[in-house]
Amino acid sequence: MNYLELIQKTAENARNDLGEIRTPQSAEDFRIKYLGRKGKISDLFEKISAVPKEIKSQFGRELNSLKKELEARYEDIIEKFPKSKSTVLGEDLTLPGLKPNIGSKHIVTQTLNEIKEIFKNFGFITAEGPEVESDYYNFSALNFPEDHPARDMQDTFFVSKDLLLRTHTSPVQIRYMEKHPPPIRIIAPGRVFRNEAVSARSHCIFHQVEGLYVDRKVTFAELKGTLFNFAKLFYGSDVSIRFRPSFFPFTEPSAEMDVSCVLCRGKGCRVCKYSGWLEILGCGMVDPNVFKSVDYDPEEFTGYAFGIGIERIAMLKYGIDDIRILFDNDIRFLKQFTRI
Ligand code: PHE
Repeated sequence: MNYLELIQKTAENARNDLGEIRTPQSAEDFRIKYLGRKGKISDLFEKISAVPKEIKSQFGRELNSLKKELEARYEDIIEKFPKSKSTVLGEDLTLPGLKPNIGSKHIVTQTLNEIKEIFKNFGFITAEGPEVESDYYNFSALNFPEDHPARDMQDTFFVSKDLLLRTHTSPVQIRYMEKHPPPIRIIAPGRVFRNEAVSARSHCIFHQVEGLYVDRKVTFAELKGTLFNFAKLFYGSDVSIRFRPSFFPFTEPSAEMDVSCVLCRGKGCRVCKYSGWLEILGCGMVDPNVFKSVDYDPEEFTGYAFGIGIERIAMLKYGIDDIRILFDNDIRFLKQFTRI
């Protein structure tokens, strides 16, 4: 076979191969076989020095025009493939499409929204405050004595001597009362921080919802009634509640509220430590000293406050036994709470 016949044979084979291309992969195989750096066209170009003088220029011309033809036809073919990862020319459009992954609200956000909705229906509006707080709002104005253990470095992340990451949402009470005269009825959701070792039961970052109601003649019975109804709406009407006496510097009297264990229905299990009860919030009547720090007259006004741990009540509602997975963002966990 002489050199010109070699070009013709290659051209014939290449044209046949072009006719067989159906997929992006076969187009790519074609490109490599003929047009690639070690492909047949470049092989032929390498032979040019051996081509006899008389036909050298004809050989060059024909080879160049074959190269241009193959390149153009190859480009035409790949342009017709859809830009996505589609596989076959003439794809079957009746095949079901790929399902896009749609994000959804985190279970902590869902729980918070549920709480907000319940209290909105009770007449509470939402207020907010900063996460970096002053010692005054986080402690002093809330009637924490100078030497109270909660001011200890052990519990609080200090930013400077007077600035800290708020350890609870109660400072929002003070900020709101400073700006608004009674009557007020607010909830204040937000992130709080405590310098604690991270374990299955506690985290150094979590969320609370603060509640505050101030008016003339607000009673402890109203506090109980409101929280009782909240628990029934949140956990279901068959839940029982109980109040235990407790202590907070900013409320007097103070209490903690338990609900009957949602997992074992009060029979006793690992989660409720076989007591049948689970603590879900702290509450109490606003201490007169707190009213004094915002210039409310404690003789005229009374009020109640409460603080709910959002992770905690979400864990109890959904049977999650390790708080850390709420912060891991493991998609396998999050997907179980997808609601669109
Ligand atoms: N701030 C308290 C805490 O973080 C909870 C609380 C709020 C208690 C309001 C009583 C009244 O533990």
